[in-house]
Amino acid sequence: MAYWLAVGAAFAGVGIMVARRYFAGGVCRSLAMMTGKSVIITGANSGIGKAAATELAKREARVIMACRDLDSGEQAIKDIRRKTRNGELVLKHLDLASFQSIHKFSEDILKEEQRLDVLINNAGIFQCPFMKTEDGYEMQFGVNHLGHFLLTNLLLGLLKKSKPSRIVVVSSKLHSRGNIDFENLNMTEANYNRAAGYSNSKLANILFARELAHRLDNTGVTVNCLHPGIVWTNLSRHMNVSPVVKILMRPLIWLLLKSPEEGAQTVVYLSVAPELEDQSGKYFGDCHEKPFTAIARDDGVAKKLWEASEKMTGLA
Ligand SMILES: NC(=O)c1ccc[n+]([C@@H]2O[C@H](COP(=O)([O-])OP(=O)(O)OC[C@H]3O[C@@H](n4cnc5c(N)ncnc54)[C@H](OP(=O)(O)O)[C@@H]3O)[C@@H](O)[C@H]2O)c1
Repeated sequence: MAYWLAVGAAFAGVGIMVARRYFAGGVCRSLAMMTGKSVIITGANSGIGKAAATELAKREARVIMACRDLDSGEQAIKDIRRKTRNGELVLKHLDLASFQSIHKFSEDILKEEQRLDVLINNAGIFQCPFMKTEDGYEMQFGVNHLGHFLLTNLLLGLLKKSKPSRIVVVSSKLHSRGNIDFENLNMTEANYNRAAGYSNSKLANILFARELAHRLDNTGVTVNCLHPGIVWTNLSRHMNVSPVVKILMRPLIWLLLKSPEEGAQTVVYLSVAPELEDQSGKYFGDCHEKPFTAIARDDGVAKKLWEASEKMTGLA
């Protein structure tokens, strides 16, 4: 009996480890170093952004951590320093819900930085209650899309000067549920739907990446976007899951969801892999190219969204 119990436990253990490895997803196999290269990561104080910052610091990059909460950013730098003494970590304030903050951040970067090799548009807000940015836009569309749209455009000159350089856009598989309704780009409180707001903003991320890749053809600056997988981070903070439920779900979360380090693999891959140096306008997941969904392939919508975003951010 004891023998069969031990055999059963061993099989269960192996099964759990195999399942864990499966759900951990793809791994960045590139060993490329980033010595002498500068990277900006938005939302680098938490989750996927912090894990990517740690890995890029290990590869000796100068990592500019663009965070809206400087205390949390300081704490992240301490944590990263405990894991690696490599790399140079620079903390800068950036609130993507404020065009003024984005302009101030970009002006400082253009004044202080000699180069920018990789811009990682990672920060995001997920299914929050109805809120508006400082400039009056619905928060998810404002932060996830418009904030990064403005930031990227303001930093394009430096990226071009530093070619070959890369822009990495963190989107989500949930973009496939999104819809770009030009009559209702900026949802009002009356017609707000949190889930739709998130999916729309993530679809906008992909359409932005594809249109920008077109516009940057032959400039030496590439743009690619990705789904990081389902990752256990602070992203679900607005979902009000009770702490008890979170504790009860911990074993399942451990088994089925990626850790932030696992979720950062595709971000790191798109930032460092030498074989991607001339690859642009593509969508990745688990460190592999994936096909675009039909909704993300609409070039007409991508162009129209670009023009609308220029107006909304004051660039046109
Ligand atoms: N986790 C997943 O399963 C998953 C799946 C698909 C896609 N993603 C995408 O992955 C990206 C990273 O998310 P995560 O999972 O790592 O979540 P997270 O731990 O909550 O990180 C989100 C980051 O964005 C920052 N942020 C939010 N609003 C901001 C603003 N107004 N200005 C500047 N920074 C702001 C947060 O700063 P604070 O800490 O100050 O709030 C935080 O650093 C997001 O774009 C998300 O949509 C995640």
